[in-house]
Amino acid sequence: MEKFSFKSTAEIEIPKNPIDRVIGQEIAVKFAKISAIQKRHLLLVGPPGTGKSMIARAMAFLLPKPEYEISVIENPEKAERPIIHICSRKDAGINEEVEKTVGKIIPKEEIPSFVSERLGFRCRRCGALSSADIPICPHCGADKFKMRTTPFDDMLAVRSMKKQDRVPALWKLPNGKEQTVIFERYGDKIRMLTTKDVQMLESLEAQKKRRVIVSLDRSTFVQATGASETELLGDVRHDPYGSHPEIGIPTYKRVIAGAVHDAHEGILFVDEIATLSELQRHILTAMQDKHFPITGRNPTSAGASVRVDNVPCDFIFVAASNIQQMEEIIPPLRSRIRGNGYEILVNTTMPITPQNTLKMYQFIAQEIINDGKIPHANKSAVDELIKFSIKAAKEVDNTTGYSLRFRPLAGIIKLSGDFSIFDDSSEIKKEHVVDAEKYAKSIEEQLTERHGSLYKAQFSDYGRKQKRSDVGSI
Ligand SMILES: Nc1ncnc2c1ncn2[C@@H]1O[C@H](COP(=O)(O)OP(=O)(O)O)[C@@H](O)[C@H]1O
Ligand SMILES: [Mg+2]
Repeated sequence: MEKFSFKSTAEIEIPKNPIDRVIGQEIAVKFAKISAIQKRHLLLVGPPGTGKSMIARAMAFLLPKPEYEISVIENPEKAERPIIHICSRKDAGINEEVEKTVGKIIPKEEIPSFVSERLGFRCRRCGALSSADIPICPHCGADKFKMRTTPFDDMLAVRSMKKQDRVPALWKLPNGKEQTVIFERYGDKIRMLTTKDVQMLESLEAQKKRRVIVSLDRSTFVQATGASETELLGDVRHDPYGSHPEIGIPTYKRVIAGAVHDAHEGILFVDEIATLSELQRHILTAMQDKHFPITGRNPTSAGASVRVDNVPCDFIFVAASNIQQMEEIIPPLRSRIRGNGYEILVNTTMPITPQNTLKMYQFIAQEIINDGKIPHANKSAVDELIKFSIKAAKEVDNTTGYSLRFRPLAGIIKLSGDFSIFDDSSEIKKEHVVDAEKYAKSIEEQLTERHGSLYKAQFSDYGRKQKRSDVGSI
């Protein structure tokens, strides 16, 4: 129920879906929804604190769960070219299921006693069966793995047997034929494997030589702000032992996916896209090809010769920028976004209507809840906050309306909340907001207030010797 009269922001309902929490950006939200459904790219342009990152994050909730898992498997022919393996959710883990059905579990009592002894289940002295994990027979106390005592024991020092995992023996199959089979310790059971079963297990084992680099339970939201090349595009870790067959780490285990791959089937969000400079080209290539090879990016490392081709990276690209930095976005990237998506300028104000007033109430309640450390606000505090928003729209955008540059307002909400806690008040009151407005000013604003203008301030507070340009360069 929408209400204009309330005692506390605690009464205000907050939408469950993150996209419905975005205030005043109807057009951007509409295109965000379209982009999520139609898999289009999106560039959001506007000043800070207007909800660009919030919209990008909310878009991820509109996407279905990832359907594919990406792994790297060993290439037996060429270790430095591991092979990419893509597996659907349906097929993931299927090998584990198959493995469980191989062979036949045989009751321990039916197995030749020398087999169950060597597998660690039967005591050599008393013949009792117990778990293979217990080295001392719980029945008679004998050491299960000590050789039978001989008169020469003292001379031979310690002679103990090693517990075996597999023991071959003759066995009568259901068809009456005797055949050599393998008995294997399988958890706390014993399973019988024919030659065919052993081959089957070996092939399943070979498929296990893989490393999942992009898992099924990944998030559909990947942020690549300020990312380095390796973070964005992946890497092959350095192996100090240079893939030495015994002590080295196999190549396929050293492959690491980049943000572009993690964002497969999801959103790759780049805040302040202009600051990525050269990396923008790589993003463009990834967007066009929908796959991007992973190579070792440290030229001095052993990983540099390794490359995994065709690693999928089919993502929705969402970027944010302020207006001033638009020209630092490389033109082919912008034309790619326009060709298969949208460029949207976000709003900075919204008109004062009853509907929008309700949204402002919702915003204040949301910020209080998100903060988690401050109490709710009463109605007169809310009215004061709203007045601040109208004043900000006038001062900054020279518009009659509510300001959608939400950072300052969010700051005042937090500060007035802190003041109310300091006062031991159970709610934020108007006086806390009035107080907060006084103090929630940036240093520049404080200087302007004290000296009339920033220009005048530089001759006083900044000190005579220190010029403004020095301050600016810190
Ligand atoms: N349009 C909006 N609707 C609701 N809350 C907002 C909006 N814009 C900003 N906020 C609040 O301010 C915070 C910072 O906004 P953000 O999305 O990071 O802005 P931008 O990315 O445009 O700089 C958000 O987490 C949210 O709490
Ligand atoms: Mg942001």
